[in-house]
Amino acid sequence: MTSAESTSIFTHSWSLYDLITEYNYMFHQEIYTGVGQLLKLRDDLGRYRLLDLGCGNARYLSPCLKQSPPILYEGVDLSEAALAEARGYLAGLPDPVVTLTRGDLLEAVEATDKTWDVIFTGFAVHHLMSADKARFFQAAGRCLAEKGWLILVDVVREENQSRENYLMDYLNYMRDNWNKIPPDQLEEACTHVHDHDYPEYFSTLKEMAAAGGLKASRIVSRYGQHYTLLFARSSLPQI
Ligand SMILES: C[S@@+](CC[C@H](N)C(=O)[O-])C[C@H]1O[C@@H](n2cnc3c(N)ncnc32)[C@H](O)[C@@H]1O
Repeated sequence: MTSAESTSIFTHSWSLYDLITEYNYMFHQEIYTGVGQLLKLRDDLGRYRLLDLGCGNARYLSPCLKQSPPILYEGVDLSEAALAEARGYLAGLPDPVVTLTRGDLLEAVEATDKTWDVIFTGFAVHHLMSADKARFFQAAGRCLAEKGWLILVDVVREENQSRENYLMDYLNYMRDNWNKIPPDQLEEACTHVHDHDYPEYFSTLKEMAAAGGLKASRIVSRYGQHYTLLFARSSLPQI
C-alpha cells in the first residue's frame, strides 16, 4: 500500500474529515486544548521551531500556535487540498516563518536538515506500517533538539488487542456515535479506517521511541482510543 492510497480520502474529500472534527467525534476540542496547554509549558516560547507532520489544514493546531508562537513552523502533508486550507488557518500567526510542503511525512522527517524543538503529528502516524513507524521514531530522534519534544496525537490499540478487534470496536464506535455524518459518507470513513488504520500499542510506540533515543515518554491524555503522547530524550515537563 502506498502513502498516496492511504491518504486518498484526505485528497479527495477533505470536507468529510472536517465534518467529523466539527462534531468533535475524534475529541479534537479536548485534545488540542491539551496540546495548547503543553506548548505553553515550553521555556523557549517565541523561539521554538515546530515541524507538523501530516498537518492537514492545521485548523486545530493553529489556535495553539497563536497562543504560543513558534519562530518557525513547517507543515507537511500529501493533500494539496488540506494545505491550501492550512494557508488560511495559519494566516494570522504573529510573524513566524511558515512553510507548507506537499510531501510524505516519513521522507520529510528523514530528509530534514534542521533541528526541531517540537515535532508534532496528529492522527497520521497510524497510517504507517510498523517498520515505517520505527523509521519515523529514528528520524524524529535524530532531528529533535536536546530538549525537544515529540507530541504524538493518534489512535492507539489496547495492549494485546488485535488489529481486528481494534477495528471492530472503532467501527462500532463510529456507527453508533457519528450520527450527524450522512450515511454514505460514514461508510466512506469506515472503509478508510478499515483499510488504512494500523494503530500500535503504547508499549510498542514507547519501544520504538526509545530505540530512536527518545527514552522518556508519557500519556498526556486519552479519550477512548484517541491519545496524546509526549516523548523526549530524557526529561519531561511536570503536567
Ligand atoms: C486525520 S488527518 C489529521 C490532520 C491533523 N493533523 C489533525 O490532527 O486533525 C491525517 C492527515 O495526515 C496526512 N497524511 C497521512 N499519511 C501521510 C503521509 N505518509 N505523508 C504526509 N501526510 C500524510 C493526510 O493527508 C491528512 O491530512
